[in-house]
Amino acid sequence: MGLPEERGRSGGGSGVREEAGARSRARSWSPPPEVSRSAHVPSLQRYRELHRRSLEEPREFWGDIAKEFYWKTPCPGPFLQYNFDVTKGKIFIEWMKGATTNICYNVLDRIVYEKKLGDKVAFYWEGNEPEETTQITYRELLVQVCHFSNVLRKQGICKGDRVAIYMPMIPELVVAMLACARLGALHSIVFAGFSSESLCERILDSSCSLLITTDAFYRGEKLVNLKELADEALEKCREKGFPVRCCIVVKHLGRAELGTGDSPSQSPPIKRPCPDVQISWNEGVDMWWHELMQEAGDECEPEWCDAEDPLFILYTSGSTGKPKGVVHTVGGYMLYVATTFKYVFDFHAEDVFWCTADIGWITGHSYVTYGPLANGATSVLFEGIPTYPDVSRLWSTVDKYKVTKFYTAPTAIRLLMKSGDEPVTRHSRASLQVLGTVGEPINPEAWLWYHRVVGAQRCPIVDTFWQTETGGHMLTPLPGATPMKPGSATFPFFGVAPAVLNESGEELEGEAEGYLVFKQPWPGIMRTVYGNHECFETTYFKKFPGYYVTGDGCRRDQDGYYWITGRIDDMLNVSGHLLSTAEVESALVEHEAVAEAAVVGHPHPVKGECLYCFVTLCDGHTFSSTLTEELKKQIREKIGPIATPDYIQNAPSLPKTRSGKIMRRVLRKIAQNDHDLGDMSTVADPSVITQLFSHRCLTIQ
Ligand code: WT7
Repeated sequence: MGLPEERGRSGGGSGVREEAGARSRARSWSPPPEVSRSAHVPSLQRYRELHRRSLEEPREFWGDIAKEFYWKTPCPGPFLQYNFDVTKGKIFIEWMKGATTNICYNVLDRIVYEKKLGDKVAFYWEGNEPEETTQITYRELLVQVCHFSNVLRKQGICKGDRVAIYMPMIPELVVAMLACARLGALHSIVFAGFSSESLCERILDSSCSLLITTDAFYRGEKLVNLKELADEALEKCREKGFPVRCCIVVKHLGRAELGTGDSPSQSPPIKRPCPDVQISWNEGVDMWWHELMQEAGDECEPEWCDAEDPLFILYTSGSTGKPKGVVHTVGGYMLYVATTFKYVFDFHAEDVFWCTADIGWITGHSYVTYGPLANGATSVLFEGIPTYPDVSRLWSTVDKYKVTKFYTAPTAIRLLMKSGDEPVTRHSRASLQVLGTVGEPINPEAWLWYHRVVGAQRCPIVDTFWQTETGGHMLTPLPGATPMKPGSATFPFFGVAPAVLNESGEELEGEAEGYLVFKQPWPGIMRTVYGNHECFETTYFKKFPGYYVTGDGCRRDQDGYYWITGRIDDMLNVSGHLLSTAEVESALVEHEAVAEAAVVGHPHPVKGECLYCFVTLCDGHTFSSTLTEELKKQIREKIGPIATPDYIQNAPSLPKTRSGKIMRRVLRKIAQNDHDLGDMSTVADPSVITQLFSHRCLTIQ
């Protein structure tokens, strides 16, 4: 693996690295005084004091925070124990081991009974159609969760079991995940945009004993027959000798047929004419959610879990191509998401928070479900997309619920920027106080537009850098404290000790560029890869013993600001979602016409990066638009629509080193028509390169 400098961000779509030097000297934006005045952390100096204490006395710092939660039994031994150094033995991280609690109890029962916020709205649900809405209070959510926990118990779900969830953004998704947490069962949520193949792979990897899904849903204009995909996945599991014994199905599109009074609270009216979605039914396996809920009891004692018991599994792309089941645990994750939510969005009781991420990603786990609920916050739960019914949907929804804190991805901002200012300024947005972004580096143009147009220059922007693996925010401004620089995630959150390393693993001081690593554990760090602790150690701890390695490159400027320069492994970031080159390549070579494939990231104005694929065909096959369509379909089916390539180029052969390694660095340059190829002394056959340059794809296919 080369230095970040050599490999760079594969797409470079936002040009972050190239311009970082110039921009770090550019203007910084101070937090608005009216925000600082009421903020939990009102100044940079206060941030520095708190940050110093969090690193010097982590046990005391987090111990104080832990006191705000309910513990069935207190921590009997050391508050924190860990080993971050592979050369000294097994990697482990234990926060509050031996203490017992339940996260569902803490985010619901505690809010209702201790905080007396039972009547507060937990979620405003905004459906795909703007007229489809409902709301659910903390008390109502608790009742639903107890009911569903009893349903799961009756189906034999016990502490430690794995439950797969494959659902759109509807209230039942939150109910399902919290019910798992109440029973100490691990939820494994699979984004409803993933294919049946991906779902099957994830069910098998963690041997889930039950699946919760939905009949169908609309995503904008598009109807997704989710049950059909779920059926395909379960069929594949059966074929592979793993029959899932129970599949619980929420009637969502067919909800209107059920009348009112169905869960949750009042059933949201589905206004859209419901087409004939054919739902096939597997007797003995499939069960309707609403029927099971009718029979379920109101009371459900939570299962008391060790702070270090696993809470959930969430799969993220791995550079080998096989998704990794990231495991988070009950106690540390709870402290970390609650604390980051409070400080990063400067949460106050009257806020209406809106994170547009799908719960199928970590952002949704941490900042739609657990973080806001742990603080007793009111949030918007959004089923739709930013461009339906029109491009002002986000801003009309902000006005509708008087959203105060808004959190989205750079890709959404870039997409909406294309339609100009008017769809934004048509709406008041006067309620907005803080704006956030996550998922990929935000290019300064998008940052400035977000700040000037969406936030009307009033709202600080929190550019939050973190990962599925970190559980919560790692580098981020605090809205009342941190002067912002567009494109920089600024400084570490409490408990986070970043370092920049060179290729030899030496810590670089001051202004520097290199590998971004973390030196000590924070409570939200993942504990293992499900069923493969060795993969956990290899991926995050082997390269630089003693550090957690993010896989990102980073630059620290003269003011100590951190600038993420992008992935330094074979990962791609498409619209804020990580994909590995290996998983796309293996989906391509499974096609009978493809002998070999190499995939690289390519700049894209909205997605940040898109996929550019080079394919070498088997003898007897010819390259055609029919074939490229087939290949795209193949990738959609194997991985999901987010992995659909924008470019597929015929490559009679691929540039390789003499030892046979595909030179992706060169392929990236070819895709961008950049003839400045750098050191080519290792290439086995230079004529291949000339040939590929002359056959570049010029337009998106
Ligand atoms: C990767 C993690 C964490 C939720 C969403 C993605 C990139 C994430 C930023 C940011 C620059 C960012 C990194 C990271 N990334 N946030 N604010 N600035 N890059 O979760 O799928 O685990 O991806 O996303 O490359 O490693 P994920």
